[in-house]
Amino acid sequence: MRINGRDYRTIWLGEDAGQGRSVAVIDQTRLPHCFETRTLANSDEAARAISDMTVRGAPLIGVTGAYGLALAAQEDASDAALEAAYARLLATRPTAVNLRWALDRVKALLLAAPAADRPALAFAEAGRIAEEDVACCAAIGDHGAALICAAAEKNPGRPVNVLTHCNAGWLATVDWGTALAPIYKAARAGIDLHVWVDETRPRNQGASLTAFELLSEGINHTVIADNAGGHLMQHGMVDLCIVGTDRTTRAGDVCNKIGTYLKALAAHANGVPFYVALPSSTIDWRIDDGVADIPIEERSAREVTHISGRAPDGAVTEVLLTPEGSPARNWAFDVTPARYVTGLITERGVCAATEAGLQELYPDLALESPCGDRLPARLK
Ligand code: MRU
Repeated sequence: MRINGRDYRTIWLGEDAGQGRSVAVIDQTRLPHCFETRTLANSDEAARAISDMTVRGAPLIGVTGAYGLALAAQEDASDAALEAAYARLLATRPTAVNLRWALDRVKALLLAAPAADRPALAFAEAGRIAEEDVACCAAIGDHGAALICAAAEKNPGRPVNVLTHCNAGWLATVDWGTALAPIYKAARAGIDLHVWVDETRPRNQGASLTAFELLSEGINHTVIADNAGGHLMQHGMVDLCIVGTDRTTRAGDVCNKIGTYLKALAAHANGVPFYVALPSSTIDWRIDDGVADIPIEERSAREVTHISGRAPDGAVTEVLLTPEGSPARNWAFDVTPARYVTGLITERGVCAATEAGLQELYPDLALESPCGDRLPARLK
């Protein structure tokens, strides 16, 4: 996507200037007020970038994990060192399954190869994962744009109103995004649309990142308080919701940013279609019941008690919101049961949020994880 007239992806490989390779990312903790990039020179820096949310969004976390393992192989390609780096990277964020998927993929390749070949193999595989993510997101965009076009045909003469939660745009992936890709593709195809952007407390990925993306792309949008969606749906002001996901079970339950579940309930109550966009790397074929079996990350209470923004002097400042001494809790994700999901928008097309729907689109992947492999509850 374009920022200030220049094409960017969220992650790219630095030149090898004799010191080994490095990886560059956009620092998302500084957006929307400052556009800065960071260099990740080793696997510890990659792990830190994931846990402090310099990079975030399920697909991008996966790609950063893959590059993190490549950086680890460059430092020490022994089995023991790779296992340690794998464990360190995997522990950074527990909910998005793309991280485990990407780390498993790179680790399996490396452990089967001679140590001397491992760094080059790892960087190549991480690059392939990044390219596949771009292709998946572009295809999700095409399939999802068809839904937006259909909504436009139903209501000629007025914009299609799409509501989205958190940031599932290009910043959350390598390029295009998941939930926002259909919006970009539909807008570029000339569909008149408008996006309701949930602010997405406590970290405000909607207000800061989704709004930044839509503004950069020139797409009509309005930032709303998280609590406004139900009211808008009740008054016919939302044609469809599209959100992303950090982990989708084989039965179609969807885990996404905290507050997604409430939006799905409001959509269900008001007859508003509720779509979830995802690449297949976000499907956890090992589990059925998302409420019981998806680990929900709990982050620092400080993200709830404090908020940051740009002060009149231009400085980005953090202020305290709550009375000093009030305790707070900060669950980062929730699970929307499949029955509230109208459809899953994947790189292979749109399917029902059911085991049969997913199996029909992914007979190859679903078969890789037969029932006997499913993990017992709470062991992920
Ligand atoms: O905590 P974050 O910002 O990493 O959460 C991101 C989301 O919840 C996204 O909706 C999800 O990762 C899908 S991104 C394409």
